[in-house]
Amino acid sequence: MLTRRRFLQFSSGTMVLAAMPLRSRAAGGREYRLVAAPAKASLVEEATLKTDVWAYNGSCPGPVLRARKGEQITIHVTNQLDQPTTVHWHGMRIDNAMDGVAHLTQEPIPTGQTFTYRFTPPDAGTYWYHPHNRSWEQMARGLYGALIVEGDADTVSFDHDHVVVADDWRLDGNGLLDEASFGHMMDWSHAGRLGNVMTANGQAYARLPVVPGGRVRLRIINSANSRIMRFAIQGHAPHVLALDGQPIKPVPLEKPGITLAPSQRVDLGFTVKGEAGDEIAIVETSSGENLVAGYLVCQEGTVAAGDVEIQELGHNPVAPPDLDNAFGFRLNMEGGAMRFLQSAVYEGKELDGRTLAMEHGQFWAFNGVAGMTEKPMLSVERGRTVRMTIDNNTLWPHAIHLHGHHFRVLSRGIVGSGLQDVSSVDDSGLRDTVLLERQESVEIAFVADNPGKWMLHCHMLEHQAAGMAAWFEVT
Ligand code: C2O
Ligand code: CU
Repeated sequence: MLTRRRFLQFSSGTMVLAAMPLRSRAAGGREYRLVAAPAKASLVEEATLKTDVWAYNGSCPGPVLRARKGEQITIHVTNQLDQPTTVHWHGMRIDNAMDGVAHLTQEPIPTGQTFTYRFTPPDAGTYWYHPHNRSWEQMARGLYGALIVEGDADTVSFDHDHVVVADDWRLDGNGLLDEASFGHMMDWSHAGRLGNVMTANGQAYARLPVVPGGRVRLRIINSANSRIMRFAIQGHAPHVLALDGQPIKPVPLEKPGITLAPSQRVDLGFTVKGEAGDEIAIVETSSGENLVAGYLVCQEGTVAAGDVEIQELGHNPVAPPDLDNAFGFRLNMEGGAMRFLQSAVYEGKELDGRTLAMEHGQFWAFNGVAGMTEKPMLSVERGRTVRMTIDNNTLWPHAIHLHGHHFRVLSRGIVGSGLQDVSSVDDSGLRDTVLLERQESVEIAFVADNPGKWMLHCHMLEHQAAGMAAWFEVT
């Protein structure tokens, strides 16, 4: 279904421009301006074909924002869309008032207004930003961008630091966004909105310049609404350096590549093998085929790092969970096609599955409740470790995302048949999003050390909109 046509006419100049941040140094740290507005983007190879999108600063993805660990960053967001929006800084353990969740942490920014976000990132790593109001529509239309937090030792050992923001778009035969299918109940009750055209950095083929022998840090972000992707680098065996922004003990990437559920990130480290003129494909393998997302384009030049030992990235100050004194919680996920809800509570009322679907577009529930509630699903006192078992009692995979905290994945198993300790690379670090296969149970643990109201939801955005959304409070 995914088409990947030849990259023809887009020069790499376009891409460099799109990635250039509007950056200035103000007294209180870095300062940016983001304007969310309708724009045109060249998503497919034909240079004349422009797709109407929504974009930050006219580019899709929006500019790469660069912050420094422990240093304040300010972002002024202006809304020039015809509907309210917010910006959420995905994966960042920041002040709750800056989390950007419409109606939970702030009122959405009305058309024509500006809201200023200001926070100090505690962790270095690969993060991203996107709206948290009607995300299923605003993100499918192109609103998202990378947010890179630099640490102290981050830049020294790499010759190249590249970001790939991967998305899948649902376009019609004319290369225009398929708008008719927004809110389609079929997507909401099944796998979410899956696209038919993939882009990397908003292009049919991203082209990232590298020098042979150079050491690359490649940060890949899955910004798709609902597609689970998998990435590998042609002819190279990179090390996985970080997952969801948090460093892990580097491990070689095994075949067939690293899986990224919607919103997940990976940092890969490797030395470029090849000669000037070579093009090394970044491949997406989730369909079983090797689809090219982009190329590392080898150019002449000199490199500093060369083939040095892979080093572990600098650590972030995330508190380790205290499992012996943990607060236990069980989350039961239900609903969706082939196992529709019998009933659930929606906006305070118990409704039958048919009414939920037909009148409210709700297909999924957490512990018998569909969608957001007045009161939190769970309330914990600050500093307490939460140990949560999540049972995916549905016949669909889900990507469960926790705001404001990173967690450890302790164990996994089939729902109802016991959990085993985890050992895969995917579970080796701290994550902000965990992928659960159909009928899989996962146990996670984290220290609830960030006070405020935090969402927990499926990052398959149609599932989130169709009921898989809740929040918890740290008091
Ligand atoms: Cu990336 Cu609640 O979101
Ligand atoms: Cu889901």
